[in-house]
Amino acid sequence: MCGIVGGVAERNISHVLIEGLKRLEYRGYDSAGVAVIDHGDILRERRVGKVANLAEAVEQAEISGSLGIAHTRWATHGKPTEANAHPHVSGKVAVVHNGIIENYQDIKQSLIALGYHFSSQTDSEVVAHLIDHQLKTTADLLTAVQQIVPQLKGAYALGIIHTDFPDQLVTVREGSPLVIGVGIGENFISSDQLALLPVTNRFMYLEEGDIALLTRDHITVFVDGQTVQRPIKELDATVSNASKGEYKHYMLKEIYEQPEAIQQTISQALNGNVLREDFLASAVVDFARIQQVQIIACGTSYHAGMIAKYWFEQLIDLPCQVEIASEYRYRSPVIVADTLYVCISQSGETADTLAALRDTQKRAAAKHCNISTLAVCNVATSSMIRETDHHLLTLAGPEIGVASTKAFTTQLAALMLLVLKIGQVKHNISAQVLTEIIVALWHLPKVLTDTLQNDRNILALSTLFVEKNHCLFLGRGTEFPIALEGALKLKEISYIHAEGYAAGELKHGPLALVDNDMPVVILAPQDHMLDKLKSNMEEVQARGGELFVFADEHSGIQKADRQHVVYVPTIDERLAPIVYSIPVQLLSYHVAVLRGTDVDQPRNLAKSVTVE
Ligand code: G6P
Repeated sequence: MCGIVGGVAERNISHVLIEGLKRLEYRGYDSAGVAVIDHGDILRERRVGKVANLAEAVEQAEISGSLGIAHTRWATHGKPTEANAHPHVSGKVAVVHNGIIENYQDIKQSLIALGYHFSSQTDSEVVAHLIDHQLKTTADLLTAVQQIVPQLKGAYALGIIHTDFPDQLVTVREGSPLVIGVGIGENFISSDQLALLPVTNRFMYLEEGDIALLTRDHITVFVDGQTVQRPIKELDATVSNASKGEYKHYMLKEIYEQPEAIQQTISQALNGNVLREDFLASAVVDFARIQQVQIIACGTSYHAGMIAKYWFEQLIDLPCQVEIASEYRYRSPVIVADTLYVCISQSGETADTLAALRDTQKRAAAKHCNISTLAVCNVATSSMIRETDHHLLTLAGPEIGVASTKAFTTQLAALMLLVLKIGQVKHNISAQVLTEIIVALWHLPKVLTDTLQNDRNILALSTLFVEKNHCLFLGRGTEFPIALEGALKLKEISYIHAEGYAAGELKHGPLALVDNDMPVVILAPQDHMLDKLKSNMEEVQARGGELFVFADEHSGIQKADRQHVVYVPTIDERLAPIVYSIPVQLLSYHVAVLRGTDVDQPRNLAKSVTVE
């Protein structure tokens, strides 16, 4: 998704801007641009494709300046072309924008009537022209921005510079993430703090509706024209640990980080074989009261929610619904008192999930309904964490690969901890079951490490997928969402069409697709559904399908003609989905590498979907 970097300093900052853009590459983009102010001129370069193209252009043109803005664009309005890339310029002003200006057509018509010429098809260009027009009657840049912002409808973050104000960077946050990086004698902005880690570890997090003026030495934040204070936070050193190290791709590194990430996530909640007293302590009163759970999430996080639904219902007898946020937010769901709304999000900035949360809060307030909200999230400083009553952090560390891996398995671990905590508060879980699961959780990092030992076997299997065009993933119970997740992983990074199904649905449609050319991946842990799953495997074999089975080492499933088996260590069946995530991640990864795709930044996708 689009990324913003900007800065005001004494030194030339063009390298900081380019380095910042490189650090945002993981979010997904299709073009990039930079503008700096140099001796009263705007110097701008824009390129389609990778930031490396832009970096080369900036070097060749010897662009340098101490005030500048830069952008990676993920096309929404208008194709990925140089003309549509940001920054957009109008007269002496240059603007970068993330988000969507929903009423841009109306604004564009009135600007055209005023004589403005548009050189792009974007919604963003209206902002540059509006500021230019406002400055005909307004003396300074900040006031002009404050005056035009109320005209903009939608979600946006802006970075703005002007040649007449060569020491001022103006920024706006309204519905799209934006953070200020606080330096010594220099200050920066970005849509993601990771971009600024080479220059600072001190950050000021803007709130929705904030407009800020940055100079080299001062940061002033305004709400409705009045100054407000926003605290500066120093970032934990571990957050900056975001390099590929010895691995070929971030995704592979992140797959291998899972045992450690899970260890971190569970350690915050467990003390020996009991839940820590202080774990989610502030939520205990709400947990005692709630009668049901509504989970809202998108993408991979939604799959984690689907698994949690099984756990809430099976383990602690609590009704649980789960829904994708983009549907939930538009279907006028009935708000029921004493519901715990759980938003699951790696980034904490996903537009649909945030909108569903805010809408739920508004509707609950209007009905005087007593609800509680909780975020399961990987970014401590995110909007979702700030806006929910309670939160549970997944301590996965930064996840850079667009295809989510360690964020997913840590979400599962965190959700299991949440289920246990609520079960304990409500006396809905026996001491024996609680202890069994906690013991199994502690054992999990070792089981994951052992499962990763299968990497070579899975690489060997993946060679059989390279020429395929379609693939089915089947599982039952909590492996059904893993089948969906496996299919999602494979399609998003290898571009092979893949579908996940509950194995019981095989006869209701997908069996028609099975022939000699259809690989079928089966997830077969040692659980109460194993015999039924074996019958489904036979149905596939009888139609000539080729089976790729990830099976418990004691499942009795043997290698056979057109039946490939990779054995997975035995694990408590309640935690099996966490373990069976690993083989499907590795399979997708190796198939994608063999097919030569861009594993970490698959085409058309973004890491953090901050627009609708
Ligand atoms: C994008 C990412 C996915 C992620 C989804 C939800 O599609 O590519 O990996 O699962 O957004 O993101 P969230 O940050 O809310 O978990």
